[in-house]
Amino acid sequence: MTNQNAGIIGMGHAYPEGILTNADLEKIVETSDEWITTRTGIKQRHKAADNEYTSQFGTAAAKQAIERAGLKPEDIDLIVCATTTPDQIMPSTGALIQAQLGAVNAAGMDVFAACSGFIYGITMVESMIRTGQIKYAVVIGAEVLTKYVDYTDRGTCVIFGDGAGAAVLGPVPEGKGILATKIKSDGRYEEQLYCPAGGTKLGTTHATIDDRMHYFKMKGNELFKVAVRSMADISAEMLEKAGYSVDDVDIVIPHQANQRITDAVASRLGVAEGKVYSNIAEHGNTSSASIPIAMDECIESGKIKEGSLVLLTAFGGGVTWGGTVLRF
Ligand code: UT7
Repeated sequence: MTNQNAGIIGMGHAYPEGILTNADLEKIVETSDEWITTRTGIKQRHKAADNEYTSQFGTAAAKQAIERAGLKPEDIDLIVCATTTPDQIMPSTGALIQAQLGAVNAAGMDVFAACSGFIYGITMVESMIRTGQIKYAVVIGAEVLTKYVDYTDRGTCVIFGDGAGAAVLGPVPEGKGILATKIKSDGRYEEQLYCPAGGTKLGTTHATIDDRMHYFKMKGNELFKVAVRSMADISAEMLEKAGYSVDDVDIVIPHQANQRITDAVASRLGVAEGKVYSNIAEHGNTSSASIPIAMDECIESGKIKEGSLVLLTAFGGGVTWGGTVLRF
């Protein structure tokens, strides 16, 4: 059987021009810039316009990633779009992005793993490249969360933002690329972050809309503790599996859920200050898009260079979590 190393060979990201600041939110719900900043680290988030939707941002990010990988859309075998906010329930956003890209030789599909979706996607694709089933894939995290947020619920509406990030994965030499990766879930925590209505369990009716059941509900405080423990534990496990210690890591890119969660994960792992990337002040929590946006920003600014050892870790609704160690 083929045993081909797989790695990220090009990245891109995109987000809406619209911005929602903490000052804007102060006019919508009972909150304050001071509360949002100290409890989350968020100062603003990007927000899609009414006529903008998830696949547009996913396509823009994927297009940039494919160009930077030196490939053409027709070279791509598989498009995996991680999203919790698809354009529509059917067809998949991955299929829509495939058409928008003109990736005529690719299959398109979605991964539904909330904020951990990007790690779910790269974990799946890594093994398909490793076994020779495919050569090039694009894994996208794309979200328009602001359309699922209840702007009367101050516990959620201050957190989430919109955007997309994409990575092209392909064959890389021995010792490079994804060295260890793992995904996990525990559906018993279903109600810590969920959307009660709009599926087969509770279809959309006038009553569910009146009760605002089509919006995300979150028990933020309970999630917080599980998030820190899960991300720190899986990170340590993946580092050990890859044969490295936390001191070997050049940069940690955690899912941008909350600055306090990021700080707590870093302290639990014992990562040196300055090695943990954060862009939450500008983007808020963009769920599956947060890691690829952050990683691409690090590549653009030179924080990630050829040969950097990178640790990714995510946690999200489901609950789901994952960790990846890669040599860029
Ligand atoms: O993306 C992955 C999944 N999501 C997460 O991992 C999110 C994890 N959780 C969090 O980020 C935090 O729990 C939040 C930022 C959501 C909330 O912060 P917290 O420190 O856990 O606050 P809390 O929910 O314990 O609420 C503390 C107080 C409450 O008031 P009382 O009951 O103490 O009077 C809330 O009603 O803060 C109040 N509150 C607010 N006040 C002003 C909640 N939201 C707001 C707000 N502005 N936006």
